[in-house]
Amino acid sequence: PASPTLAVIGGDGIGPEVTAEAVKVLRAVCGDDAFSFVDYDLGAERWKRTGEVLPDSVLAELAQADAVLFGAVGAAPGDKSMPSGILERGLILKIRFAFDHYVNLRPSRLYAGVPTPLAESVTSRGEVDFVVVREGTEGLYCGNGGVVRPGTVHEIATEVSVNTAHGVERVVRDAFERATRRRQKVTLVHKHNVLVNAGQLWNRVFEQVAAEYPQVQTDYLHVDAATIFLATDPARFDVVVTDNLFGDILTDLAAAVTGGIGLAASGNINPTREYPSMFEPVHGSAPDIAGQQVADPTAAILSAALLLDHLGRPEEAARVTAAVTEDIESRTGQRRTSEVGDAIATRVS
Ligand code: IPM
Ligand code: MN
Repeated sequence: PASPTLAVIGGDGIGPEVTAEAVKVLRAVCGDDAFSFVDYDLGAERWKRTGEVLPDSVLAELAQADAVLFGAVGAAPGDKSMPSGILERGLILKIRFAFDHYVNLRPSRLYAGVPTPLAESVTSRGEVDFVVVREGTEGLYCGNGGVVRPGTVHEIATEVSVNTAHGVERVVRDAFERATRRRQKVTLVHKHNVLVNAGQLWNRVFEQVAAEYPQVQTDYLHVDAATIFLATDPARFDVVVTDNLFGDILTDLAAAVTGGIGLAASGNINPTREYPSMFEPVHGSAPDIAGQQVADPTAAILSAALLLDHLGRPEEAARVTAAVTEDIESRTGQRRTSEVGDAIATRVS
């Protein structure tokens, strides 16, 4: 059979640099012929050149791929020609919604020797190793809402969070399934004391699904309290399940306490495999350091490990993760982006 196709969207800024290292590691661990890589030119630069964000024909091609490897997109912060939201809504979220990426998987692990803002009294409480299962297709990200009397002192702007029983159930179930393969604990994060409509739905579904997994321990935290525990006792978390926006915010904090955004990987997963899943570092395009080969490609490489897992290559995924762990634990001075990729590629081959 033909080798699986990986669509590669390097994007802007450091995106192409870190993605190139992820491709390098995939070739090293699976062999040069294991995948056909197809590059797609998308992002701020494409938009500026052509006015196109994601043409339907490109979306249709991406749908034929076995998985998508995504770098980062975005123009420089001072660049006023690129309005906020164009790429976010038109590219990243468009793909997540079109390909029904209802599990936005974001693992966090504190590797030995990695600088962390966490106090010694916190890290000594236990291993920090958890995954956030962030819902990826609903909530406040749907773009429901609108503006009444725009630009006036009576302007009313609304954003409506959409939560369906179907959408909540499938992501909560995924979290419980993951917990059975991990340390058997799921924490629901929400804010049901204030967001009572959605909160009740999440609570009810969570309890119903939990009843099917008696061996899995459950916990609930309001999102504000969850941020406290991420800073004071992150070892208490195993699998965290939450909605789209809470998950967005929590996973930046999770990255910050586990060595920073340079290490944080993610998978936008369609567990039914009806559509290709997309794997991307949590970080952005970092235009300030683009093109200098100073970005850390580790998050992109760890995202490639999630891709391998998803494509049914757990053994190769584990080799990449192990190589990254060794690489992180043996870090000394500054290395160039390609040197980090080379070092990890050497360890896996
Ligand atoms: C992320 C990003 C995106 C999100 C943006 C760029 C749309 O912050 O992947 O976490 O909010 O999901
Ligand atoms: Mn984010």
